[in-house]
Amino acid sequence: MSVRINPSILAADFANFESELGRIATADLVHVDIMDNHFVPNLTFGLTMVERLQQVTPIPLDIHLMIDDPDRWAPGYAEAGAFSVTFHAEAAMDATALARRLRDIGARAGIAIKPGTPVEPLLEILPEFDQVLVMTVEPGFGGQSFMAETMPKLHLLREAVAKSGQDLWLQVDGGITADTIVIAAEAGADTFVAGSSVFGGVPADRIAELRAAVEGHVHQ
Ligand code: DX5
Ligand code: ZN
Repeated sequence: MSVRINPSILAADFANFESELGRIATADLVHVDIMDNHFVPNLTFGLTMVERLQQVTPIPLDIHLMIDDPDRWAPGYAEAGAFSVTFHAEAAMDATALARRLRDIGARAGIAIKPGTPVEPLLEILPEFDQVLVMTVEPGFGGQSFMAETMPKLHLLREAVAKSGQDLWLQVDGGITADTIVIAAEAGADTFVAGSSVFGGVPADRIAELRAAVEGHVHQ
């Protein structure tokens, strides 16, 4: 199974995104955190920024929408050419309809759950999605500590995927380091978002360290 390392530009220098993207050229995808100051108590940027990022990097964009009313706003990110668009289960009115719309436009559809949100209701609608994001911190801010208590959700998801054979990426986001990535991989994750651990050092070295740490620990 392949492993994906998606650096989060939430931890990058906001005045120099183009050069920051150049420092993560070995990333699989670029994780872009969209926050609206309603769904989470923090504000980042929106569609105009994503359209511009798309023009200055060849790396596919992995959009994480931490916003209210994704039913209304998410399709625009898919139309802008994002590779994957992930919205929160807690915010969506009709997750299945929205996922279908995103796929119709040509993006991979993702659904995210906060640490306190159970995964069981998602198990029935997994075929509608290309990835599930299990948040390993409360969404809103970078630099928080990994919450190991979210791991049983990954175990359940990995079990469901093993049974169905579906090509569903299982993503974790929040507090991922060279240590915690092993815990998440052993629980079933294969797609890893890392903000402060990547940009807190030389990004290319940090990405290589994360890859090396996780090797041999992902489920086959
Ligand atoms: C948090 C964001 C994350 C954040 C992760 O709400 O969704 O993507 O950038 O940052 P670290 O890796 O620093 O925990
Ligand atoms: Zn994120």
